[in-house]
Parts: sequence; C-alpha cells; structure tokens
Amino acid sequence: MAKNESEPENRYIKKDDKKQIVKITKMIAPSLEERGLTQKDVMQKAQKVKNDEFYTRYEDVVRELDMYPKSIWKNKVVFCNCDDAVNSSDRNTSAFALYFLRNFNVFGLKKLICTHYAGNIDLLNQEQKGYIFTKYGFNEIDKKKEYPNNYTGSFDDPLSLKILHEEADIVCTNPPFSRSIDYWRTMIESGKKFLIVSNIAIVLTVSYVHYFKNNKAWAGYNDVDWFLSPKRELTRASGYWFTNLPIINRPKYRQLKIMPLKDIPEKYKRNDDSKMLLVDKGYIPSDYKKPFAVSTRPILNGLLEKGYMLIEDKEYYPYINGKKCFARVLVKIM
Ligand SMILES: C[S@@+](CC[C@H](N)C(=O)[O-])C[C@H]1O[C@@H](n2cnc3c(N)ncnc32)[C@H](O)[C@@H]1O
Repeated sequence: MAKNESEPENRYIKKDDKKQIVKITKMIAPSLEERGLTQKDVMQKAQKVKNDEFYTRYEDVVRELDMYPKSIWKNKVVFCNCDDAVNSSDRNTSAFALYFLRNFNVFGLKKLICTHYAGNIDLLNQEQKGYIFTKYGFNEIDKKKEYPNNYTGSFDDPLSLKILHEEADIVCTNPPFSRSIDYWRTMIESGKKFLIVSNIAIVLTVSYVHYFKNNKAWAGYNDVDWFLSPKRELTRASGYWFTNLPIINRPKYRQLKIMPLKDIPEKYKRNDDSKMLLVDKGYIPSDYKKPFAVSTRPILNGLLEKGYMLIEDKEYYPYINGKKCFARVLVKIM
C-alpha cells in the first residue's frame, strides 16, 4: 500500500458548506501484505464484525455517475435502498440521495425513493426508525417522508421489495458489507438495473463469480478507495463500482496489454506447480488456447468484454514451489 504511506497526515475534503480538515485514519497501519492478509480476508472480517458503517463520499458518487449518459435517468424511478438518509442539511444526507436530489430536474427523473434502515448504528446519527423518503416532482415541496408501521427499512423488508419490484427502474447505493451476498442475489433476481459499490474482491469470490461469468453484472468505471466513517474520518477500503448498465468505451481497456504469449516479458508470465499459466501486470496472451489465471484487475478492466471468458465459478489459488499465492480466476479465449 505504497499510496497509503505517501499520503499527508491530514487532507482537505471539499464539502458543500465549508472546507473541513478530516483526519486520515490507518495512516501508519501496516499494509495487508505485511499483515499476511488478502483483500478477501478483509472483506470476510468486515462481514464478521458487521462493520457496515462506511459511507460513500460525494465526490466518488459524482465521479462514477457522471460517466453515464444523462439520458439513462430520463423518466426513471431511482431507488436508493440502503440507509440513504435524507436530512434537511446536505451534510447529513447520504451522497447518493444528494446526487439525485441535485440532478433531479436536469436528469428528468420521475421519482427518487430512498429508504432508511433502522439499525443500531445510524447513518450520520439520524433517526432510529425505518423510513421511506420520496421525491416525486420537480418542485421543492414535492417530497415526503413516511414511517410505515413495523417498517425496518431493510432492503429485504416486504415494503422495500415491493418498491423494488413494482416501482424501481434503477437501484443505486453502497449496500452493507455484512449482507452483500443477499443484497446481490436480491438485485440480480429482481432483473432491475443497478449501480452499486462493493468490495473489489467479489470478482473472484465464489458467491459472486457466476454473476460475472454469466454476464449478469460487470465492473463500472471506477475504484472507490476511500470511505467516511460515522465520525467522518477517511477510511481506506478497496471498493469498486459494479453495474448491469452499459459501459461505453471503458477507459480501463487501455490497461489491458493483450499480445502474443512470446511477447509478454518473462517476469510477468510463469507456470504454477500444476503448470497453469499465470500472467501479471495486465499482460494477457492473445494466442494461448488453454485456461490461464489472472488477478482481479484485468476483470475490472474489462477483459471479459474482449473475447475472454471465465471458466469456473470460483477463485483459483496457485501454488508455486508448494507456497500458496494470492487468489486469481481462470479465464480463456472464447
Ligand atoms: C456501507 S454503508 C453505506 C451507506 C450509504 N448507502 C452510503 O453509501 O453512504 C451501508 C449501510 O447499510 C445499512 N444497512 C445495514 N443493514 C441493512 C439492511 N438490511 N438494509 C438496508 N440497509 C442496511 C447500514 O446501516 C449502513 O448505513
């Protein structure tokens, strides 16, 4: 995590109301490698401790959502179904809700629905009751907040599912890590369009790989490296945008170095103990007919859109000289 080490102690984050100094946490924390951990370990740990309280920064929402043509939102119902609190102050409103509220008229949205989860820890210390916030028209007054009886605000609450199935066109949020598997299943089964933040490691995690293999989901445009804690401290985590919306001219194709195997530098191609070819640093053989193993990056950079396919529904752990290496996935030319 060289990037981490070279960061200054404090950093300015531009907020809407004022500039704020926020302390970067985990500054001197050892890297994952130094701790002998992988991204997957971190994700599993997050799931175990149910550490869901990481909030998406407004700038990350803008950076990703501005990549999609405005026309995709026209006359659509956007559903933010994971704790997207809406408050009279922008500062206490989730970045997703804020983005769509600000762009409601420009996008020509039909409706924005945000549900608030009544968990123990509350987003930005807001309300303890589940609620549904709706903006349904172009004027300031076209808003309502409802507190239906016994409504939990959970994405799988019957009322949230009813909104998902009967009203929503595009779902957009950063769901809780602890419920990520269920959340993904619910989204994919709904058949709705979605644009969500999840851990980058899901592209090689057994519960999700089949979505990528079967073209039900793919990477969005950007990484999400920083989140805000409930105390608004910057916290580093490896997030990525995932979607089933069309990606136009993915800029990260440029990071794929597709070429004949013989032209790939020796140090970036090797065979593991079972003679499986492993390639690194974005190098991809264009003429190799057998399966080979790649890390998450080429998948996030659009390899599956370039005539390659995943061949298994799970991760692949290479061993080199008997030593287990980090997880990859097996791909081959279609
Ligand atoms: C990773 S945070 C992201 C919050 C917000 N969407 C954002 O991006 O800033 C996930 C949120 O989901 C909430 N949450 C936990 N379980 C939930 C559930 N079953 N349904 C909906 N939201 C849930 C957590 O309280 C947490 O605030």
